[in-house]
Amino acid sequence: MRKKIVAGNWKMNKVFQDAEELLYDLSEQIEDGQKSSKVEVIVCPPCLYMEMALDLSRNEEDERLFGVGAQDVSEHAQGAYTGEISADMLSSMGVEYCIVGHSERRKYFGETDEQVARKVERLLEEDVTPIVCVGESLEDREAGRHFDLIRSQVEKGLFGFKQLDFVKIIIAYEPIWAIGTGKTATPEQAQEVHAFIRKVVEEKYGKEVARNLSILYGGSCNAKNAAELFAQDDVDGGLIGGASLKAEDFVTIINSFK
Ligand code: 13P
Repeated sequence: MRKKIVAGNWKMNKVFQDAEELLYDLSEQIEDGQKSSKVEVIVCPPCLYMEMALDLSRNEEDERLFGVGAQDVSEHAQGAYTGEISADMLSSMGVEYCIVGHSERRKYFGETDEQVARKVERLLEEDVTPIVCVGESLEDREAGRHFDLIRSQVEKGLFGFKQLDFVKIIIAYEPIWAIGTGKTATPEQAQEVHAFIRKVVEEKYGKEVARNLSILYGGSCNAKNAAELFAQDDVDGGLIGGASLKAEDFVTIINSFK
């Protein structure tokens, strides 16, 4: 089912004490009823803080306040891959989501669409929901290549799956030129690409699957511009970087749906 989702990608930020404080603040503000029950909130801290995030994601009555996600996963199932974290490790901890194919991983770690596909496969095997990022650089956009590039990222990363599995995936459109730059896509630009992604998915998996797919926008989405972005027909929420590092801003974004 198509869900409204706000996910915070902390990236490589916060030492332990600051992470603890942010998680406490978030649980408290969400517990205080400041979040609409119609929105699925996801927090993706560095893996080192996963256990703490999972603890604080539930209140004293053991009710779930938010979901916890990882920022990456190994493409391998297990074994001699020093430094890596596997999908079954995430799942065995109770981690429900995992970001895959973020542009920073593609750029700094050379992650390819083929690796994205393998990571998604590992996650689906372990019932962890992949949040798969696609998006173009400024150069691609200026050259008018962005639709072709996004189509290719979606096809290569996600079209090897059976419909039964594809329906578990969340897509995030993150134009690289908008990430951490303060230069947000306009609501019209976001809507245009989101509608395009939905159309590409419809061609492969049909109307019903496309209609139920959640597509998040990411790239300088903040407490001020979230409402306008989320008001677009095909924008089902956001993947938030910088603005997820302050509880107040993140909660404002969560409450930005009409
Ligand atoms: P910013 O919100 O900091 O631009 O980052 C977006 C992002 O990359 C989320 O994954």
